[in-house]
This record gives sequence, C-alpha cells and structure tokens, in this order.
Amino acid sequence: MFSRIKSPRQLIAESGADLEGHHLKRTMGLFQLVCFGVGAIVGTGIFVGLSDSVAAAGPAVVVSFVLAAITCVFTAFSFAELGGAIPVSGSSYSFAYAGLGERAAFLVGWCLLLEYGVSVSAVAVGWSQYLDELLHSLTGLRIPDALAAGPAEGGVINLPAVVVVLMAATLLVRGVRESARATAAMSVLKIGILIAFCAIGFSAFQAGHLSPFATDGMGGITAGASVAFFSYIGFDAITTAGEEVKDPRRNIPLAILICIGLVTVLYCAVALAAIGALGADEVADRPAALSAVVDQVTGSSAGGGIIAFGAVVAIASVVLAVMYGQTRILMSMSRDGLMPRVFERVSPKTSTPVANTWIVAAVFAVPAAFAPLDVVVGLTTIGTLAIMVVVNLAVMVLRRREPGLARSFRVPLYPLSPVLGIGFCLCLIWGTGWHTWVQFAVFLAAGAALYQFYGRHRSRLAAAGEPVSPGAAGPGPGGA
Ligand code: ALA
Repeated sequence: MFSRIKSPRQLIAESGADLEGHHLKRTMGLFQLVCFGVGAIVGTGIFVGLSDSVAAAGPAVVVSFVLAAITCVFTAFSFAELGGAIPVSGSSYSFAYAGLGERAAFLVGWCLLLEYGVSVSAVAVGWSQYLDELLHSLTGLRIPDALAAGPAEGGVINLPAVVVVLMAATLLVRGVRESARATAAMSVLKIGILIAFCAIGFSAFQAGHLSPFATDGMGGITAGASVAFFSYIGFDAITTAGEEVKDPRRNIPLAILICIGLVTVLYCAVALAAIGALGADEVADRPAALSAVVDQVTGSSAGGGIIAFGAVVAIASVVLAVMYGQTRILMSMSRDGLMPRVFERVSPKTSTPVANTWIVAAVFAVPAAFAPLDVVVGLTTIGTLAIMVVVNLAVMVLRRREPGLARSFRVPLYPLSPVLGIGFCLCLIWGTGWHTWVQFAVFLAAGAALYQFYGRHRSRLAAAGEPVSPGAAGPGPGGA
C-alpha cells in the first residue's frame, strides 16, 4: 500500500504558526514540563488501580511496576528521540506522519482518541468517586446516587464528572501560562501527599507482610504489570506541548526521563508502604486502599479524608493535562486537513485553541456523564500500547530515511532499544485479553474507513499535490 509522507523539516516549519498566523507562546521550562508530565501520569492508576495490581501480583507488585516502567522507558527513549528531533505539537501522531506516512498517522490520531479523549471521560468518573469520598469524610453526606453515576451503575448522570471536564476546559482556554501554573501546583501537591502517605505507611511497616512475595509467580507479575501500565499512561503527553516549550530539543527528552524515573520510585514506595502496613490481601480487597492504610495506622478517619483530597487534586490534574494533549493532537490533524479546520483555530486574544477545547469538552463530557468506569480502561490501555509500537517503528524508519536530522537525544543501544520497546508492548497487549483485542480491532476498522472516505480526500498534503510514496518502508496498510 502507498501512503503520503511528511518530512520532519516540513512538520517543524509548519508548526511555527497556524494558517492565520497566530503563534502558540513558548512559555514552558523544564520544571513546568516535568510538572506537566507528572500531572498527566500520576492519578487514577495509583489511587484506584493499586488494589487490582496487588490482587494480581501480591507483594511482587513492585516487580510489576518495574516491568511496566521498563516497557515505558524503552518507548520513552523513542519518544525522547522523536520529541527532540521533531519538536511540534501532535506527539506520536506527528512522528507517525514523518516516519510511516499519512494512513498510519491518521490511525495513530484515531488511537489517541482512546488514550486521551476517552481517558478524559474515564479519569473524570474516577474523580467523581473520590469527590464523593472527600465530601463524606468532611460532612458525612454523600452525593445522591442519581447524580453520582451513569445508568449502567444505577444512577442517571455522573454530574461531578461533567463538572470537572468543564472546569478543565475553562482553565485551558484561559491560556497555557495559567493552566501550566495550576498543573504545577497540583503536581507538587500530589507528590507531597504520596510522600506523606509513604511516611505514614512505613511507620507501621511489618516485613512479614511481604511474604509470600510472588503469590502467583511470573504469571501474576506479568498480569500485574498489564494493570500497572495504566498508571504510567500519560508520559508522552509531554511531547504534545512541543510548540509551547522553551528549548524543546533539550527539555522534552529530559522531562520524559525524569518523569518516568520519579513516578517509578514513587509507585514502588507507595506499594511497599501500603502492603507493609496492611498486608497484600487487605490492600487487594480495598478499592480506596490508600485511605484505608492511613485510617488504620493513624486510628482516625481524618487521615483518609486527606488522602481523598489528594486523590481529588491528583485526578483533576490528569483531566487537565490529558485534555490539553487531546486538543493539541486535534490541532495538528486539522492543520493536515485530516480533521475539520475549526480544530486548528487559535484565538488571537488568548493564544489558545478555544473552539477546539470546548468541542473536546462537550464530546467527552458525554461518556463521562453516562459510561461506567471499567468499560474504557482496556481500550485505553491497548490503544496506548499500539501507539507505542508505532513510535518505536518510526524511530527505526527515520534513522534510515533521515540520518542527517538534528537529534538532541538518540536512543541508547540502537536498534536494541526500540526493538525491545516493541517486544514489551506486545507482551502487555497480549495480557489485555481477547475481548479487548476484538473491541480494538473494530475501533481500528472504523478509523481506517474514516480515513478512506474522509481524511484521504481532505488531506492538505494531497491538495498540495504531494506525491504518494511507498509506505515509507513502513509496515504496510494502516501502519502498525
Ligand atoms: N496514568 C494515568 C492515571 O493513572 C492515566 O490516572
């Protein structure tokens, strides 16, 4: 099959301004970028998902976290190389365009609707649950059932989830300076709360709770890693901010690696503190395990309330960062003619894509209001892993086709690193199970049809008469 390619130089040149000449402002430094990454990464996965990974792996969940982190690190190297070489908004979508061609890029953009858009809804639903916990610990009251969940979970509408989506959109349209500041403050606060949690947990640490260590052997550790992977999703959001970062060639790779290292240490410490204090079975049994640990160790329910507050803050910052990423990806796709032009318009007043942001908020508020939490998690995970496979492939293709491209960061041990990245991602995809594979195949088929009947004909590369070139030594139909 044949697919149009966009050169890295063309991507960088185009990112300087949108069609109306309005530039995004370069306001983010390394610290803000790390905070932005932490804002996108640390959230539902550790606060809500820890119990599920402990249920699968037992105390060996720390090994699962490390396994999930290794999967991310190999791919993060690839993200870092591409983010440093092609510092434009759009992340893996732009990388796929440069490496594997337009069809693969469209499908990556399509999968990003799972990783970003759908997860905005999912994370907002998680936020709603913790808001309810917080309200309960402060006032003893609960949000009425009808307003706290969608129909599949016995309610009518999940109102808090809708509210947090709209709040995030309001911050984002006010401009990246304000939203980056808000994200930085929230990220520092949630790291502080998790460190405080570790201090409390370790004060009641009992070494006996760590044995037996690997309750379900290697299978349990791998299954735990597939669940734990969710808590790392979001590190690539850093590359969606390419056009708003100062010195992006240095700061983007550095920020990605700092973020993964930081959260891995934090997650392992949180898991050890929780299991050491309560025991693996107890942690696995309690959905809000972190609150339970603190309540038990301090002997008061006030501590659990503080953790609930931390979760509310943490998850809100994930909504903000993930929604930001989604708007920038749509902006890139719109610039290429693969999405309607409204997504690329930047307001001269705020220098932000206002209409784009409100459309994203309106669309993904709907599943936030009505969808159950667990339905979207498998799809988010498999969509993200598929994108990571494509990013690793793009590194290898670009090394061959654009050897002279300025790269501020190069993956170590090339080509071993991207090859291992692909291998680890495929292992975790395997672990998501056949139900998710089938759902994902249907989703991909819908994306391929949309490209065939809409994107392919509206593409600006096509309008510019760009010759169609053989799938860029790429993987053939549909990219990866
Ligand atoms: N990594 C993100 C979270 O755990 C998706 O909430």
